[in-house]
Order: sequence, then C-alpha cells, then structure tokens
Amino acid sequence: MGRANKVVLAYSGGVDTSVCIPYLKQEWGVKEVITLAADLGQGDELEPIRLKALSSGAEVSLVRDVTAEFVRDYAFPAIQANTLYENRYPLSTALARPLIAKILVEAAAEYGADAVAHGCTGKGNDQVRFDVSIAALNPNLKVLAPAREWGMSREETIAYGEKFGIPSPVKKSSPYSIDRNLLGRSIEAGILEDAWSEPPEEIYLLTKAIADTPDEPTYTEITFERGVPVALDGNARSPVEMIAELNAIAGGHGVGRIDMMENRLVGIKSREIYEAPAMVVLIQAHRDLESLTLTSDLAQYKRGIEDTYAKMIYNGLWYSPLKTALDAFIQSSQERVSGVVRVKFFKGNATIVGRKSAYSLYDEDLATYTSADRFDHKAAEGFIYVWGMPTRVWAQKMRGD
Ligand code: ARG
Repeated sequence: MGRANKVVLAYSGGVDTSVCIPYLKQEWGVKEVITLAADLGQGDELEPIRLKALSSGAEVSLVRDVTAEFVRDYAFPAIQANTLYENRYPLSTALARPLIAKILVEAAAEYGADAVAHGCTGKGNDQVRFDVSIAALNPNLKVLAPAREWGMSREETIAYGEKFGIPSPVKKSSPYSIDRNLLGRSIEAGILEDAWSEPPEEIYLLTKAIADTPDEPTYTEITFERGVPVALDGNARSPVEMIAELNAIAGGHGVGRIDMMENRLVGIKSREIYEAPAMVVLIQAHRDLESLTLTSDLAQYKRGIEDTYAKMIYNGLWYSPLKTALDAFIQSSQERVSGVVRVKFFKGNATIVGRKSAYSLYDEDLATYTSADRFDHKAAEGFIYVWGMPTRVWAQKMRGD
C-alpha cells in the first residue's frame, strides 16, 4: 500500500518539484500524479512548465492563472491592513501560499485525489502555510511533502531526477533560493547567508540601483476607494495593472528593496532580501490616507490589529476564525478610506507629498495659525487643568506638600 493513490502536486518546474513526481511514484507508491502550476504573475512561460511535468512522469499537468484573484483577494486585503511582518516585509511570498493551497484542494476534489503534495523542505515557513491552509480547507486530505523527508542533497536530487529522465538544470543553477510572483521577489541563500555581506547588485531584478535611477523625480497620484487602490493619475487600473505599473515606476527609482533579519515560525533567524516595490508604496500611501480619514482612536487601535493580521499571514493562518473576524474589523474601518495620495519617487525614496479626500477629517480652520483660526484657545486651559490633575496631585504628594 502506498501513501496515497492519486496526488495533486504543487508544481513550479524546478528541480525539486520535478523530482517529486518520480519520487512519489517510486518510493511512496503513488499511482497517479497530477501537477498543478499556478500563474501568480511570476513572468515564467507556463507552457514549457506544463510539458516538463508530463515528461517527468505526471499523468495530468494543469496550469491555472490566478493572478487577478491573487491581487484582488489576497494582496489588497493585506494593503487595507497595512501588513508588514516585523515592520518591514510586505508578505509577498506568504500571501501566495493560501491561494495555491486553495487551488490544490479544488483540483483534488475535481480529480478525486486522496492527497495533495508540495516541494517544501522542513526549514521554512512555506511548508507551514501549505499544510495548515490545506487542513483548514479540507481536513480529510493527506498532505505529502517528499522534500521534507527524502534527505537528498542538491547533487543527489539532480542525480535521482536524471534516472527518471528529468534533465539537470542547463545553466549552473543560481546559488540563491528565489521565490517570485507579481508582488515581488524573495531571495535567500548563497552569499546572503552571511548577514554582514552586502547583497551583490546582480540579485535584484525589479529595482534599480540608486546610481542608475533617473535624476528627475516622478510624481504619481494613487486613488483609493474604501482602502483599495483603483486608479493611477486619474486613470482606472485593474488590480493586476495597478501592481505591475507601480512595480515599474517605483522599481525604476530604486524603491522597494528590503534587507532584513527575519524570525521564521520554525524558530530560526534568517537573512532575507525582498523586492516588492508596489506593495511597499501602496501600504505607505494607504496608511497616509488613513491618517487623513480615520479618527485618531480608530487609527491607533487598528495598528495592533494590523500587527496580529501580519503575523497570522506569515504564520500560515490565513484561513482561520480569528483572521475572518479581523477581516470584518478591517473592512468596516475602510468605509471612508477613499481619496487620492500624491507620491514623489526619487533616488530610492517614495515620499508622500500630498493627500486629499472627500472624507477628510482634517479641518484647516482648526489647525491654522492664521486669523482664520476657529479653535477656542480658552477652552484649552480648562482641558489641561483636568487632564493634568493626576500628574499634579502625584507631584505634590511626592514632595510631601
Ligand atoms: N522568508 C520569506 C517568507 O517566509 C520568503 C520565503 C521564500 N520562499 C522560498 N521558497 N524561497 O515568506
């Protein structure tokens, strides 16, 4: 008896997921492997990947373009929640996992599979995100993770694949481990494992080095409706167009690089490089619009929710009751987060230089220092008397007055 009969395998076309195909059949007795490649706007050509799965021994090879759904249902809610894991990482890789899990579970139902599989190793966050998301969507499905168990080195993996007709990588494979989708790139390993060494320029694809950025700034106006970005410079943009165009503008000015030490869920620290220009800018702009349109108590309370929400995405809890409850809070908070934010891109910086909204809570006549001032200065005196009472009493008692 094998571990499963029919398996839907998350497939990228790389060495590991390709080797999973013969491995599942030879070592674990799987009868039928259905591969599923997700198009998340990573820019790969998917037809060669679809064919590679078949030549690696898959019975069925599926490709699903879920880029639009990815941006609309995963990235945009994260922008509304201003999610930055450990204050910096816009979760560009993490957000893709629950969606891949969802289409795996759907394909398993469609093809009557009794298990799904992925090529994650045992050291990362992605295995957690897949396993927990799949369990949330169908707790009766088995999850197989061959690369977590096979214990083969890179060379051994390639040699194993060659026995079953999987070509070894043509070019000397990159020393880096890279994950890519429309939202950005995550780069690990190689020289980057030395936390002291500066990342070589060659690892970046979506962001220019400051030395190569234009000497003139670009100004872009981003329109939000209920916390969702909908237009650039007044022209409507689909969710996918919005991300693609902002990646190009911001990346062209060297905006969106992140170099950080990160705490993984599995307890280890790792050095991570990210490029996520559009996400970085959209979160910054969205947060600015909130500061114009939300009351101070709602904005401040929301910061705590955002932090929890970011951790939940990072830790694989996208499909969970707490996440659903927080979604309700966040959606309610966005009712009047509509307006326009003006961003200046220049030499590695995205600076918010203007914001406006029909729902602005900013009252110039209250804030002004000119004669238009409507603020009641006398009222401030009584307010401060009451506000400062506990401190005054405390100070008197401390002095023994
Ligand atoms: N550390 C990041 C995260 O957990 C990036 C993971 C990159 N994944 C990969 N398979 N290279 O979201």
